[in-house]
Amino acid sequence: MVSTAPPSAFHRRRRGLLAAACMAASALLAAASAATPAAGTEPAPPQALDVLHWWTSVSERRAADHLDARLAEVGIQWRDTAIAGGAGMAAAKVMKGRLLSGRPPAVSQLIGAVLRDWADLGLVLELDGVARQGEWARTLFPAVQAHVTHRGHVVAAPLGVHRINVLLYNRRLFDRLKLAPPQDWAAAERAAQALRQAGYLPVAWSDEPWQVATVFEALLLAEGGPALYQRLIVERDPDAYGRLAVGRALERLRWWRSLGSSGERPWTEAAREVAADRAGMLIMGDWAKGELMALGSQLGESFDCLPVPGTAGSHLYSIDTLAMLTGDYSRQSVQERMAAQLFSAPVQQGYNRIKGSVPVRRDIDPQALDSCARDSWLTFSRADAPRLPSLAHRMAADEALKDALMATVHRYAVDQRQGTEATQRRLATLVRALHKPPVTGTP
Ligand code: BGC
Repeated sequence: MVSTAPPSAFHRRRRGLLAAACMAASALLAAASAATPAAGTEPAPPQALDVLHWWTSVSERRAADHLDARLAEVGIQWRDTAIAGGAGMAAAKVMKGRLLSGRPPAVSQLIGAVLRDWADLGLVLELDGVARQGEWARTLFPAVQAHVTHRGHVVAAPLGVHRINVLLYNRRLFDRLKLAPPQDWAAAERAAQALRQAGYLPVAWSDEPWQVATVFEALLLAEGGPALYQRLIVERDPDAYGRLAVGRALERLRWWRSLGSSGERPWTEAAREVAADRAGMLIMGDWAKGELMALGSQLGESFDCLPVPGTAGSHLYSIDTLAMLTGDYSRQSVQERMAAQLFSAPVQQGYNRIKGSVPVRRDIDPQALDSCARDSWLTFSRADAPRLPSLAHRMAADEALKDALMATVHRYAVDQRQGTEATQRRLATLVRALHKPPVTGTP
């Protein structure tokens, strides 16, 4: 039976003491296993942890395999449970089912608001000791540090930062048609016309609600700027939904959709349209860059990456995190070792290079990143740059509000009978009805 009471100060203290004791024990064990084994003794078998996640595309699979291999080097076996479905729409449901039936995996990809919800129920291991030992506070981006900290405790191992406001374009097609890079909307409109005339799809598109929402939030930032995005999505001021910029973002969404083929399909198919020279442009988080590269496309040659027009200098982000779940304290020391290893600089660099995201660490050399990742990492690290949390990827609101806003935007995109102003009013009503003040990272 799952307790729904938030962990009391006593329990938290007890877990803290337990964590410290286990870390000391695991340090002793690690030291012992590092010593040369006595003649005739077998090396200790790897300790296995079940990991539930939604990385099933070619690049995602390779990124997960990379983690698997790096963990094997320190004697931890990654036992894989991958649930297909972009943005974890299906995985979140499987996770909920397993938690509520008392069969949580040892580790799960839990991000944003969902991570906080499970942490509130006391189902997520606090990693304060690991973070202290690894000096996460000194090396992590402060925005990531705040993101993995809930009610004063570190509740997940951060893996990478994705940028959502990314426009990928097919350089081969742009060069063939002598088109300027889509740096602004005028260039994107000219390119769209020329691509269509030449028989290509101007845009790779899918009607899946989370993909529509991913494009919409980037357009909202483009049309409204960071201050309005903040008011709409973070502060959730219902009155702000009446602003003209929101209407413009909705209309641009319909225009963008009209440039692709309609129908719901996985994001990987949209990426394949670009890789196979069938489509010219794609607005999608930079995991699509990772996918194009995994499909053999060369960044800077066959395709390139720009901030969505009007969003250069801003970073609309989604942070991937793995949470260690409570329930079986015998695996705690392995979970802690896993969290520490995931944070190490080499693992961070190797994983993020494949995944398309950027390391969560401030102490890496940006010159080692590809051009797209470098712009993302540098923008994310600039003290004065607007860093905006993604709605579609659970960074900004709980599931109920996210799903309600996403459904309304989706309906507007696919159903021409939905008026722009009526949709703005509907969004405002939802925000008013479902607003909950956010819980911050610090106590
Ligand atoms: C995750 C990415 C993943 C993408 C597509 C996002 O929510 O943060 O890691 O690649 O969804 O499934």
